[in-house]
Formats: sequence, C-alpha cells, structure tokens
Amino acid sequence: MLVGLPATPPTQYANKAAAPAAGPSRRLVDIGCYDLRTMTRSLLRRVLLILLGLFAAFYGVLALLLALDDEAIEALRVAPAPTDTIAIFGASGTAGDGILKAALADPRVRRIHVITRRVTPRMESGEAAGKVQVTRHMDYLDYAAIREQVAEADAVFWAIGISSRGVDEETYGRIHVDFPRQFVTQWLQVSRKPAVTFHYISSSDISEDSRMMWAREKVRAEKTLFALAEGSSLNVVFYRPDYIGPTREEAHPGQRLLYGFFAPVGAAVKAVQIGQAMLEMTARADSISHGDTLDTRDILLYSDAYERRTN
Ligand SMILES: NC(=O)c1ccc[n+]([C@@H]2O[C@H](COP(=O)([O-])OP(=O)(O)OC[C@H]3O[C@@H](n4cnc5c(N)ncnc54)[C@H](OP(=O)(O)O)[C@@H]3O)[C@@H](O)[C@H]2O)c1
Repeated sequence: MLVGLPATPPTQYANKAAAPAAGPSRRLVDIGCYDLRTMTRSLLRRVLLILLGLFAAFYGVLALLLALDDEAIEALRVAPAPTDTIAIFGASGTAGDGILKAALADPRVRRIHVITRRVTPRMESGEAAGKVQVTRHMDYLDYAAIREQVAEADAVFWAIGISSRGVDEETYGRIHVDFPRQFVTQWLQVSRKPAVTFHYISSSDISEDSRMMWAREKVRAEKTLFALAEGSSLNVVFYRPDYIGPTREEAHPGQRLLYGFFAPVGAAVKAVQIGQAMLEMTARADSISHGDTLDTRDILLYSDAYERRTN
C-alpha cells in the first residue's frame, strides 16, 4: 500500500464526488514528479539516439575504409612449397570444419589426416572421396599412437580449443598450451619431412598483462610453441582472428547474424578463410619466418592471395 493514500479499495470512489478531495499541494507534487519523469525519459532517449548515431557513424566509416582498402599480398613468384599431406586437429569444431573444407577443395592437397575424438559428416564425405583418413584419438597428451599419420605431414593445422567460460586456468592451459606443446615435441621426433609448419589458432586481443585468464594463456601458448621450435626444421605460424564465422553448412542463424555484423568492419573471418590462409602460408613456407603472426586482416589478405593463386 502506498503511504499517504487511503486504505480503501479504488472501486469505492467510482462516484467522484464521494472521493476525498486531494489538497492542492499534493497535486502540485504529482505534476512536478510527472514532469521530472518525462524530462528524464526524453533526455535519456536523446542521449541514446546520440550514442546510436555516433556508433552508426563510426561503424559506417570503418566499413567504408575497409571497402576502399585495396591492399593485396604479392603473388607467389616461386613454386609453392609442398602441401601434399597435412594433418588437422580440431576438425569437429567451428574453425577446424572450415579448415577441412578448404583443404578438401584444394587439388594440391592429396592426403588429409584428421585426428579427432568425434567424426563429422564432412570427415565422412572426405573419407568417401578417398582424400581424408580419420583417426579416432582420445589422449591429447600422448601422440605415440598417431606417429605414422603425422610423420609424413608437411603441415599441421591446429584448431583444438575451448571457451574459457566456466573453465579454470589449469584446464584451459592444459588444452591450449600442454596439448600442442606435447604434440610438437613428439611430432619433431618422428617427422620425416625436411621442413614442416605448425599452424596454431590463437586469438585477437591477447596480452600477458590481461585481466582475462584466456588472453594470458594464449600468449603462454604462443611463447611456448615458439621456443620449442626455435632452431629446428619447424616453423610455427600463429593466427589471431576476431570472430570466426562457421561454414555455411554448420552456421546457425545467430552465428550468421554475428558474422554479418562483424565482417563489414573487418572483425570477422570465415572458418574457410582461415584454412585458405593456412594453405597459403604453407605454400609460402620458404619465405615465412618462424613465429609469423596473422591477425584478422592478414588472414583475409592471405586467403585472398590463396584464391588468386588457385583460381
Ligand atoms: N570461434 C571464434 O569466434 C574464435 C575466435 C578467435 C579464436 N578462436 C580460437 O580458435 C580455436 C578453435 O575455436 P572453435 O570456435 O573452432 O572451437 P570449437 O568449435 O569449440 O571446436 C573446438 C575443437 O577442439 C576440440 N576439443 C576441445 N576440447 C578438447 C579436448 N579436451 N580434447 C580434444 N579435443 C578437444 C573439439 O573436439 P570435440 O568436437 O571432440 O569436442 C573441437 O574439434 C580456439 O582456440 C579458440 O580460442 C575462436
């Protein structure tokens, strides 16, 4: 019950004459409150409109700048390095599915080893086409069982990862740092190729000083892998995308919406474009440096270079 109002139910005053008259001071207070509320609402509406307008202008300028940007990676002038045999880890996930799709479409890739816990329709159709060999593997801290599959690989595309939501640092570190570290260690012991590349999907906005655990762990992963391969026949390449749009076959409406929002301002890549950029970097193995890092824009540029070279 509101303080100051009579306790009797409102229906009792259906006859206005019977209602107790409100004093003039009370009506003034009511009118004053009403005006204040209206003014606050209209002020808030105006502030919101201004903010929205500023955001739209900022978004529009960014999108325009991106549309006008005609920078391109120079065409490859020498014969591409071999991409004959590759191995993909994480192909049952968003990024990995796109990488597998890109590799399946590339005629220069003859053999794709997919190391996975879970088999997907794309893996099955790749197997049926005779290009993919799927190996079910459960322990990502021991790769002895898949040594034959990876010994012949010219490149390994690594897309294993988890969201940091509700995950403790130890688990996140095991999956993003210990899994690939152990793999690279064992791969180098069995590889029969003179030069190999390891492609690791990291993330944008990472920093050692970040308050975000995942951002620090991704830096630790990059540093660990870099140090591990230094001076060896292995080059490690890091990919730091913003949003990754799933393949057409896997995307649900929400993901399409997110991609549609982020892509025009250069804050999204398609999963397939990551695969194309990885294939392009592998083909350019002779000219890349150990520790090369591609952000969203670089991924788009190398994906574009791949398209121009192969079409
Ligand atoms: N999605 C994005 O927008 C985005 C943006 C920037 C960076 N990234 C990074 O890209 C990487 C891949 O992300 P994603 O979006 O493709 O992830 P995702 O869709 O969740 O796929 C993750 C992959 O990792 C595998 N995996 C997860 N935990 C595993 C474990 N304990 N043992 C073995 N395999 C495991 C999954 O296999 P199962 O299918 O068997 O679970 C799956 O193949 C992550 O490092 C992520 O941080 C993603």
